[in-house]
Amino acid sequence: MFGLNDAESTNALDLLKRDHKEVDDLFQQFEDAKEDGNRKLRGEIAAQICAALTVHATMEEEIFYPALRKNATDVKDLVDEAAVEHQTLKDIIERLQAAPTSDPLFDAGVKVLSEYVKHHVKEEEHEIFPKAKGSDIDLDQLGERMAQRKSELTAAMAAPGARSRKRSNGKGTTVRKP
Ligand SMILES: [Fe+2]
Ligand SMILES: [Fe+2]
Repeated sequence: MFGLNDAESTNALDLLKRDHKEVDDLFQQFEDAKEDGNRKLRGEIAAQICAALTVHATMEEEIFYPALRKNATDVKDLVDEAAVEHQTLKDIIERLQAAPTSDPLFDAGVKVLSEYVKHHVKEEEHEIFPKAKGSDIDLDQLGERMAQRKSELTAAMAAPGARSRKRSNGKGTTVRKP
């Protein structure tokens, strides 16, 4: 009654879990759009997924993971693994952002991204979060910093030209077959 409810909590772990759920919902929306054969909507949802994951991963790498490395040293190896998984996620995201929805591998790319994210989120929530909870980290204070950074990153992502700058970085233009 007197505190913030879960949806508004500034606790770092609640914030991250809300993000995870939001992306999971977007992947479900993508599946629904696929069934409806709505290519334009699929492209829009995929773009939202890529943007949300990029903001989330950056926030974790800049604030959450360093706090864990510093204050929860027993989780360092898991954090290192998570950081490496982010690199793979970013690679898939970059390929998707450069690919048209007509690319024959576009849907498969989103599917692989979804499976990879599921695996990554499971490890964070089941292995890393409990260690963060048991550490001396002030999760409310950390959550406030993360929420602030998330707003900045989201605004930068939505700024005019952000997408075209991304497109002109010389990366490939399609989801390539292995
Ligand atoms: Fe992560
Ligand atoms: Fe995460």
